[in-house]
Amino acid sequence: SLATQIGDFHFKNVLMNASGVHCMTAAELDELAASPAGTLVTKSGTPNARPGNPEPRYQALTMGSINSMGLPNKGLDYYLDYALAFQVKHPQQPIFMSVAGMGPDDYVTLAQKIQDSDFTGLTEFNLSCPNVPGKPQIAYDLETTEQILDNIFRLFKKPAGVKLPPFFDLAQFDQMAALLNRYPLQFINSINSLGNGLMIDPATDTTVIRPKGGFGGIGGAYAKPIALANVRAFRQRLRAEIAIIGTGGVNTGRDVYDLILCGADMVQLGTVLQEEGIPAFARLSQELEAIMATKGYTQLADFKGQLHTI
Ligand code: DHB
Repeated sequence: SLATQIGDFHFKNVLMNASGVHCMTAAELDELAASPAGTLVTKSGTPNARPGNPEPRYQALTMGSINSMGLPNKGLDYYLDYALAFQVKHPQQPIFMSVAGMGPDDYVTLAQKIQDSDFTGLTEFNLSCPNVPGKPQIAYDLETTEQILDNIFRLFKKPAGVKLPPFFDLAQFDQMAALLNRYPLQFINSINSLGNGLMIDPATDTTVIRPKGGFGGIGGAYAKPIALANVRAFRQRLRAEIAIIGTGGVNTGRDVYDLILCGADMVQLGTVLQEEGIPAFARLSQELEAIMATKGYTQLADFKGQLHTI
């Protein structure tokens, strides 16, 4: 079984989409719901709909992807309406709503609206979008992160988590984990894309995406060791009650297995889902089940967090 759990929420498959991929419209969300994925997360909703950055704003690369989408989305109300209708139709299938603020004050607006709604699923507060010109990735600033979390949890009483950017220094993990441990979080999601990479087309000496002079978030295989380190480092530091969604660098069942070895309770597909589409869920499920069968494992608990060190 690939079943897993976050808090009191149960999922029959450990795999789901990463926010931003295949989750902008109700039609895309419905395709995720009908797939083998354990559940789905919506595109990060902002208080108002946004067109996003100029195209081209996503490019597949040999080992992953670069994007500077700029938070194109249909606005919080659209995704909240979708979620409310969904939970009536599928009372046994909890889903995630991702929300992102254009500034610290937006998080209060977003949290209040979801708190006041009938939404019964999990809310992911995205503190790590790298692609809005002039707006820093919030979670790289501890003070702003603390202010936002204080403001959110003053009013928000529903199951919630945060989407984090990659960190690269063990002192950063110490500081961020100490901060996160103070809040009633159900989960963290680690990692968002590697912010502000740059790729060049050698035929034309030109950037491959238009926004921000070509800078964009890097995903796919480039991100794998960073994602593993972030999941592992947070698992070693967070309260055991805070679940971890592992995201980044998944192309094979082995990649899923490795994130779970580092402590992931759920695993999200970004670039691989964008490139391969919905069939990625069945392929990766089969590949993961084959690895588990070889080792005699029947459930994720048989190896979750059980990374060996030398
Ligand atoms: C976008 C990218 C992200 O990595 C994110 O967390 C939110 C939004 C974007 O460019 O749309």
